Amino acid sequence: MSQGKEMSQGLVLALSKGRIFDQTLPLLREAGIQVAEDPEVSRKLILATNRPDLRIIIVRASDVPTYVQYGAADFGVAGKDVLQEHGNTGLYQPIDLHIAKCRLSVAVRKDFDYANAIRQGARLRVASKYVQVAREHFAKKGVHVDMIKLYGSMELAPLVGLADVIVDLVDTGNTLRANGLVEVEQIQDITSRLIVNQASMKLKHRQLQPVLHAFKDASSAHNCQDEAL
Ligand code: ATP
Ligand code: PRP
Repeated sequence: MSQGKEMSQGLVLALSKGRIFDQTLPLLREAGIQVAEDPEVSRKLILATNRPDLRIIIVRASDVPTYVQYGAADFGVAGKDVLQEHGNTGLYQPIDLHIAKCRLSVAVRKDFDYANAIRQGARLRVASKYVQVAREHFAKKGVHVDMIKLYGSMELAPLVGLADVIVDLVDTGNTLRANGLVEVEQIQDITSRLIVNQASMKLKHRQLQPVLHAFKDASSAHNCQDEAL
């Protein structure tokens, strides 16, 4: 039997390495699920757990919704930032896990007078990985923008004249400070959600339901208001 076929019979959870994996691990533990290996050490992309019917696949953070949408994973954990850019096709988002908390903000160089540029109706060059949300934000404000899509290190763009403004994630503010930037608008708060493939929710309901409930119980310590499972 091929590995793909084998995987389709159990449950597959998609996670990204780093903060999502690290912050999902305690929730998994509370749900009685132990992961056999540390992906940073083993470099493996398919990880076994103590449950023979549950495996974890390791993918890029922005690829998690794609794996879940197409059913290559039954469920996954992804940030609201990533989900908004991806769109909602084929996905349920039943649980806010209240992990990987940060905010999506507008930031500029300390010496850039953002308020004045807006007042004057200036056309702004905006660099971001989050082009959909950024475009919507500035459209609502009636600000004309040229969007420049980047995949990382957004903070560099205003420093080298690539953009006037960035739209990026901020947590402690350390990265902005270290690069002489200031936050001028907060667009929205960001947390990570559990997402579920719509077909899996129906066809693997009996297998999925206890795991989803365990996740919900584990995350309820974070005071969430979830939709009915
Ligand atoms: P990709 O690999 O697709 O480029 P990434 O490098 O942004 O993704 P991570 O840095 O692991 O992946 O971020 C995963 C998620 O964690 C983000 O989508 C966001 O929701 C959240 N996040 C990002 N930065 C922070 C931060 N500084 N503090 C808290 N949460 C964050
Ligand atoms: C994220 C984000 C910011 C930084 C903000 O980057 O893109 O650069 O965190 O966090 P802070 O306000 O606490 O400094 P991350 O550290 O994940 O690096 P990467 O996404 O560029 O890999």
